[in-house]
Amino acid sequence: MASISYFLLIFSFFFNLVSSSSDVPINVTKHFSFKDFTFTNNSRLVHDLKLLGSAKFSNEKGSLQIPNESQETGIRHQAGRGLYSFPIRLLDPITKTPASFRTTFSFQLNNSTTSASDLSDNGGGSGLTFIIVPDEFTVGRPGPWLAMLNDACESDYKAVAVEFDTRMNPEFGDPNDNHVGINLGSIVSTKVINVSDVGVSLKDGFVHHAWIDYDGPRRIMDVRLGLPNDEVYPSRPIFSEFMDLSPFLNEYMFVGFTASTGNHTQIHNILSWNFSSTSQAFLRYPSSETCQGKILLQNTTETTEATEKSNRNKTPRSFLIFVGSVVLALAVLIGFYFISKHRKSASKSKTSIEDEIHRPRPPNKPRRFSFSALSSATRSFSEIEILGSDIRGVYYRGKLGTNGSQVAVKRFSAQFLNTHGSDKKRLLKEIKVISHVRHPNLLPIRGWCQDNNEIIAVYDFVPNGSLDKWLFGAGVLPWTRRFKVVKDVADGLNFLHSKQLAHKNMKCSSVFLDVSFRAVLGDFGFVLMGAESKQFESIVCNSADVFEFGVIVLEVIGGRPRVEEVEEGRSEETNLLDFAWNLHETNEKVKLVDRRMGSLINLEQAIRVMEIGLLCTLNENKGRPSMEEVVELLHNMEKPLPELPRTRPIALFPYNSANTGLCNNYSCTLKL
Ligand SMILES: *[C@@H]1O[C@H](CO)[C@@H](O)[C@H](O)[C@H]1NC(C)=O
Ligand SMILES: *[C@@H]1O[C@H](CO)[C@@H](O)[C@H](O)[C@H]1NC(C)=O
Ligand SMILES: *[C@@H]1O[C@H](CO)[C@@H](O)[C@H](O)[C@H]1NC(C)=O
Ligand SMILES: *[C@@H]1O[C@H](CO)[C@@H](O)[C@H](O)[C@H]1NC(C)=O
Ligand SMILES: *[C@@H]1O[C@H](CO)[C@@H](O)[C@H](O)[C@H]1NC(C)=O
Ligand SMILES: *[C@@H]1O[C@H](CO)[C@@H](O)[C@H](O)[C@H]1NC(C)=O
Ligand SMILES: *[C@@H]1O[C@H](CO)[C@@H](O)[C@H](O)[C@H]1NC(C)=O
Ligand SMILES: *[C@@H]1O[C@H](CO)[C@@H](O)[C@H](O)[C@H]1NC(C)=O
Ligand SMILES: *[C@@H]1O[C@H](CO)[C@@H](O)[C@H](O)[C@H]1NC(C)=O
Repeated sequence: MASISYFLLIFSFFFNLVSSSSDVPINVTKHFSFKDFTFTNNSRLVHDLKLLGSAKFSNEKGSLQIPNESQETGIRHQAGRGLYSFPIRLLDPITKTPASFRTTFSFQLNNSTTSASDLSDNGGGSGLTFIIVPDEFTVGRPGPWLAMLNDACESDYKAVAVEFDTRMNPEFGDPNDNHVGINLGSIVSTKVINVSDVGVSLKDGFVHHAWIDYDGPRRIMDVRLGLPNDEVYPSRPIFSEFMDLSPFLNEYMFVGFTASTGNHTQIHNILSWNFSSTSQAFLRYPSSETCQGKILLQNTTETTEATEKSNRNKTPRSFLIFVGSVVLALAVLIGFYFISKHRKSASKSKTSIEDEIHRPRPPNKPRRFSFSALSSATRSFSEIEILGSDIRGVYYRGKLGTNGSQVAVKRFSAQFLNTHGSDKKRLLKEIKVISHVRHPNLLPIRGWCQDNNEIIAVYDFVPNGSLDKWLFGAGVLPWTRRFKVVKDVADGLNFLHSKQLAHKNMKCSSVFLDVSFRAVLGDFGFVLMGAESKQFESIVCNSADVFEFGVIVLEVIGGRPRVEEVEEGRSEETNLLDFAWNLHETNEKVKLVDRRMGSLINLEQAIRVMEIGLLCTLNENKGRPSMEEVVELLHNMEKPLPELPRTRPIALFPYNSANTGLCNNYSCTLKL
């Protein structure tokens, strides 16, 4: 018992250290200004502003223009963004205080001049927004969505926009085709202002000035709109009210403009832009008052109570968490030492140490969860927590009670467990094997559950979701990120193969993107061994993994799924693999490259990666590489590629579009 209270004492020391730290406020400020957007070798412009989707710098107008009218796709149904390239601190995460900012810009919305393609069009395009978004590489949807939101992010997307809307979309609550709206994480405006009331017509073709001021500590938003061709700061705001932006901000965000067109078109020009922001940050130092001696004198229970309270009020800085963990680890070691000593001398009872005290587990070690713990983590496996599902079961989002950390919970379906003659013991064994496999590009497993005739696997939660949502949604991943995803996936898979393990379920929805958009492979393993020896199965499946990797590569480059539904009036192949091989035969591989990536793409690199993808789809004995060779080819771009056959191989190995992920499907096809 002595050792336990010693342990508590150390524990309270840690929390005291955190709570008695003192706060030193500093101001984090940012200011930038663009007099115009003339692009005559202005390298700063390219460096400081990121254009996404249909956007360009227009030299003759000196503007940031959306859409890019020189695209061959035309200017209907286009979405574009121009963002300041560097993240700006807009929220203090500890106090949840938003930054104060002021931005002024001038813009001009002109009716489209390309009247030939717009038969009945005289009403202008969709509109423009000043936007604050969490990333600098996605574009939202065109039309009434104003390029603001996209499918990949749905409800969790943090964004703030002030829209200058020139189309009436009653489904989004628009009052008319000439209004300003304030949008908080949603395309439906929280506030709308009819600017006809103040004598402004947004799309009259004149230059307009806008001023947006936000007072972070007081949470007051103030929007002003000048009269046409008038730069004078208007004395009266069109909007000035309390508005809490903090729920819609991350600590760091990107700012800029978005605009879109739909059936109706309009050219949106930003002619100049100023932005400045100030946010307070707190540096926390451990207080000198906190000394071990003082704490040792304090009553243990009292301090733990007090610290629990203060811990609720304040979030400790990560540095202190680190210090705390070290102290904690030390405490555990010391406590452990005392207990074992105590046990040796006092008793030789058979109860295990774990039974005597609940000693904290090392955070990384996978463990067994109870069914009730996972049930409450997922709100009784509620439908609203479903992240996805496949033939093997359903994925839920969960929040663990112990520390509120988010997890992804895979509940294997009864059907899967029954129909595949599954032996639960083997499945659990496999989970345990997998749980020892750790690599930066493999999704870590937190633990498992076997209760109530169920088998559930618990993984780390990956905030940015699965790759398919990014590739096939309206958002656009730029080439550099796509290339990195391909390399990450190859590294993860190669590591699995090097451990004589196979993934057996390679598809875009098994690839997840973490906060920094590193790709991690999930959903691997869990296919029950057949009668064949493990060795044999491993070889068959590894080779199938390489094939599937090749298809994923093509999906990443093309931004389209392996099998597409037939669209009317489209002559292109709907099977991506056939399409890619045909393009190879006719030497038109460029045509596969996803056009939404715009001009910011290293085509040579993309074609090489596509060729590597095609190599992976060759028959096994006709040149399909191993993952090790693939990794080598991807990381060493100088290394010459093995030559691809001039024409498409005859017996291209078929794949199942529904991809059941069952290795058995391959066992027969591969023996061909
Ligand atoms: C930080 O900014 C606030 C408000 O703008 C100001 O009152 C304060 O003096 C500034 N603090 C420092 C250290 O500059
Ligand atoms: C502008 O850039 C082009 C290509 O980078 C270069 O050839 C040209 O000399 C530059 N012009 C000026 C005025 O710097
Ligand atoms: C605009 O479109 C043209 C034609 O497709 C293209 O050459 C140009 O690079 C695009 N501009 C930008 C900034 O993407
Ligand atoms: C930006 O700031 C500069 C100087 O601070 C000012 O001259 C210019 O008018 C401002 N631009 C806009 C669009 O307000
Ligand atoms: C907007 O304001 C104009 C001018 O005051 C008015 O005619 C119009 O009815 C208003 N529209 C709405 C939807 O309130
Ligand atoms: C744009 O179209 C509207 C509606 O037809 C019209 O009132 C306005 O004058 C046009 N503006 C320009 C610059 O052509
Ligand atoms: C927009 O229209 C106005 C008036 O017709 C014209 O003076 C101006 O040059 C046009 N601006 C753009 C960017 O097309
Ligand atoms: C755009 O036009 C097409 C055909 O003209 C029509 O089918 C479609 O519903 C229109 N879309 C919108 C959003 O009005
Ligand atoms: C510690 O606190 C408990 C309950 O608050 C109290 O009963 C006990 O007397 C205290 N011990 C000391 C040494 O202050």
